Amino acid sequence: MSEEAFFTLHRGIPRQGPGTAEDVLWVLEQIDPPAQIIDAGCGPGADMEAFATTLPKVEVDGFDIVPHFVEEARDRLSCFGPRVRVWCGDMEAITGQADLIWSAGAVYFLGIETALTRWRSALAPRGVIAFSEPVFLTDPPSKAAESFWADCPGVGTADKIASRVESAGFRTRATRVITGRAWLDYYLPLMSRAARLRIGAGPDLARELDAAETEFAGWRAAPTEIAYLLSIVEPA
Ligand SMILES: C[S@@+](CC[C@H](N)C(=O)[O-])C[C@H]1O[C@@H](n2cnc3c(N)ncnc32)[C@H](O)[C@@H]1O
Repeated sequence: MSEEAFFTLHRGIPRQGPGTAEDVLWVLEQIDPPAQIIDAGCGPGADMEAFATTLPKVEVDGFDIVPHFVEEARDRLSCFGPRVRVWCGDMEAITGQADLIWSAGAVYFLGIETALTRWRSALAPRGVIAFSEPVFLTDPPSKAAESFWADCPGVGTADKIASRVESAGFRTRATRVITGRAWLDYYLPLMSRAARLRIGAGPDLARELDAAETEFAGWRAAPTEIAYLLSIVEPA
């Protein structure tokens, strides 16, 4: 796949993975009110917006490695002023004293063990990490889920995620399954952009659009079986 075609498609959409503001609110209901939040792999900043809107005094720092996602997030969040900041950089190296490190659909890039181990030193005392990760809802997984995640090695059940969390020296405090609406919030703007780009697309972009349509069709075939698990974890 061409990186340029990927980023042509994944530009100017509200979020880069499944999630809704309800996921953010659910996490906030489970923890003490945070004063400092880090969003690791923030993409265009949808969840930072939800945190900043819900908590009018919270400080939020977002990190993403892709410069144009960082620009999109900065544009989107400029109305919040200096308490909300977006940095272009590697989330593996984040520092700080966060009450909450949030990471939607991005821990996968580092692996659970590496991400949690690296981020431990960026947590304030009693700080927690909330991250979403692909999950199989049944063991063995349904055919639809197995085929949907075929290109993502290592996807497992909630128990497997919990044991990876444990091996990083953390324990799981609460979990929430992300299906349905959260996926539409990601896919609908993406597929609408794909339809617009189809007209006049060159071969690389056409391949990217085909892949996105195939992925969306795979999700539509089994929207209750294809899921992320949102886990709130704390140092053990
Ligand atoms: C599936 S997207 C999710 C984005 C965002 N959390 C959301 O839900 O819209 C994963 C994000 O992680 C970012 N990412 C991947 N590896 C990264 C790294 N090492 N450091 C910082 N960001 C990274 C990608 O650029 C992308 O924006």
